[in-house]
Amino acid sequence: MNGRKVLLLVGSPRGSASSSHALGDHLLSLLEGHGMATKKLLVYPALGDDKRMTELLAAVDACSLLVLAFPLYVDQLPAPLIDTLQRIADRRQGRQGEMRQALAAIVNCGFPETLHCRPAAGIVRLFAAQAGFRFLGCLALGMGGAIGKRPLAEAGGVVRHQARALKEAAPFIAEGREIPLAVIELMARPMMPRWFYTGMAHWGWKRAARKHGVRSRLGERPFAEV
Ligand SMILES: Cc1cc2nc3c(=O)[nH]c(=O)nc-3n(C[C@H](O)[C@H](O)[C@H](O)COP(=O)(O)O)c2cc1C
Repeated sequence: MNGRKVLLLVGSPRGSASSSHALGDHLLSLLEGHGMATKKLLVYPALGDDKRMTELLAAVDACSLLVLAFPLYVDQLPAPLIDTLQRIADRRQGRQGEMRQALAAIVNCGFPETLHCRPAAGIVRLFAAQAGFRFLGCLALGMGGAIGKRPLAEAGGVVRHQARALKEAAPFIAEGREIPLAVIELMARPMMPRWFYTGMAHWGWKRAARKHGVRSRLGERPFAEV
C-alpha cells in the first residue's frame, strides 16, 4: 500500500445492483492493484440516517482521492447525490486543502449517446473547483443499461472499451494525474450498434408495460396540446 486512500461514493438509488456500482467497483479494484487502500459507500442509505451521513462525511475528509460513480437522471446528477455534494461543499468552506485531495467521476446514462452526460460532467468539475478538490476528469458513457448489476469483469466483450478505458485511467488516477482525453474518448465509445441497443430498450419497455397491465396505454400523450 502507498498510503493513499480512495473513497468510492455510489450515487445510484439501485445501490450495489447498479451499473454505477459495477463501473466504480471495477475501478476500485484496479486502484487497489496500484497500491491504494479502498473504501466504498452508498449515498442513498446515508440520506435520512445521521450516523451513516456522519460516517460518509468523515470518510470524504480522510480520503486522498474521491471517486463519484452515478447515473444520469433527467440530464443531471440524481437529487440525493446533489444533496450529499452540497453537504460536502458546505463542510469544506474556508478550509485550506492541506493535502489537496483529488476527485474523479464516472457517469453512465441510459440513452445511447454519451454526450447527454456532458452537463453532469461539467457540474462535477464545478463542484470539485468550489469544494477544493483537484479534478482529474469524468469518465462518461452511454448505453449504461447494458451493464446492469453484473460485475464489469463478468459483462464480457460488450464492455471491452470501458474495461480498457478504466484500466488505462487507473495509473493516472492513482498518481493524481488528469485522465488523458484519449482515455475519456475510449470510455465514451458505444458498446454496440445504436439500433440494437434501442431495439432491446423498446422490447424491455413493452415487456415491463405488459407485466404491469398497461401495454395498450404506451402511446398515450396526456400532456399533448390539443
Ligand atoms: C428517473 C430516471 C431518470 C433518468 N434520466 C435519464 C436521462 O435524462 N438521460 C439518460 O440518458 N438516461 C436517463 N435515465 C437512465 C439511467 O441513466 C440509466 O438507466 C443508467 O444506466 C442507470 O444507472 P445505474 O444502474 O447506475 O442507476 C434515467 C433513469 C431514471 C430512473
